[in-house]
Amino acid sequence: MTLDDGRPAPAPRRHLAVPLGAEADHRRLERALVAAGWTHCGAGDWAVALRSPDGLTAARISPFDPAGPYTAALYREAAHTGQVPRLYEHRRLAGGGDLQLLEWLEPVAADEAADFHRALTAREPQVAALADVVRRVHERGLREQPWFAPKVDENPDNIMRTADGRLVAADLFSADGPRLYATVLDDPDLVAATIPEHERRFMTELPMTNTGAWSPETLAAMRNGLAAADARC
Ligand SMILES: Nc1ncnc2c1ncn2[C@@H]1O[C@H](COP(=O)(O)OP(=O)(O)O)[C@@H](O)[C@H]1O
Ligand SMILES: [Mg+2]
Repeated sequence: MTLDDGRPAPAPRRHLAVPLGAEADHRRLERALVAAGWTHCGAGDWAVALRSPDGLTAARISPFDPAGPYTAALYREAAHTGQVPRLYEHRRLAGGGDLQLLEWLEPVAADEAADFHRALTAREPQVAALADVVRRVHERGLREQPWFAPKVDENPDNIMRTADGRLVAADLFSADGPRLYATVLDDPDLVAATIPEHERRFMTELPMTNTGAWSPETLAAMRNGLAAADARC
């Protein structure tokens, strides 16, 4: 549905219809949603997604996502373009996780996704307003977050289509995973000093569906390194 001037009409506001205390972490949230009839429907490196029983809403849940607040800011600040997913709710989870309650999206063909990314990078007129918000929020992330990824994520999977037919850019920001996780192994004290423990408690629980899971040895080395760094603080 669109307004007379072509902008998408505001959607009815949706809320997380499960009781969730302020101390809930990503695991408790996932369990509560599954118990309420939500089903797993997607997974990336940083997050998994569950679909609501009525099929209209997705919950994107990450155990650790320092970029989540910036993605949420992008969705709010670029909502007028209709080219980002509708964000019904955003909240940080205990231990540094992140929940985004979003309108349901379907994948699009890879060439259509690549065209959208190209247009965004070139700031073509049909996406110029979105490109400006992307740049502004990305610069804010780089200023405020020591591990923010220097580039926007151009993975074609991040361009998706809404039920009312809009092409939208999702999940453009992330932490710089390769640099951050290499540092967890090489210099865990630096990671411990730059990210408070309560914001990285579950940083070794990322799904890593695209890149491939860490080996048990790597996981143990990361966990031991961080625990030793925390003990030294
Ligand atoms: N709003 C949504 N509707 C449907 N599926 C979604 C939605 N958001 C995310 N997903 C699914 O979850 C996967 C992971 O989400 P994404 O935000 O891309 O996280 P990551 O940071 O792990 O790449 C996506 O590849 C997609 O399959
Ligand atoms: Mg993604």
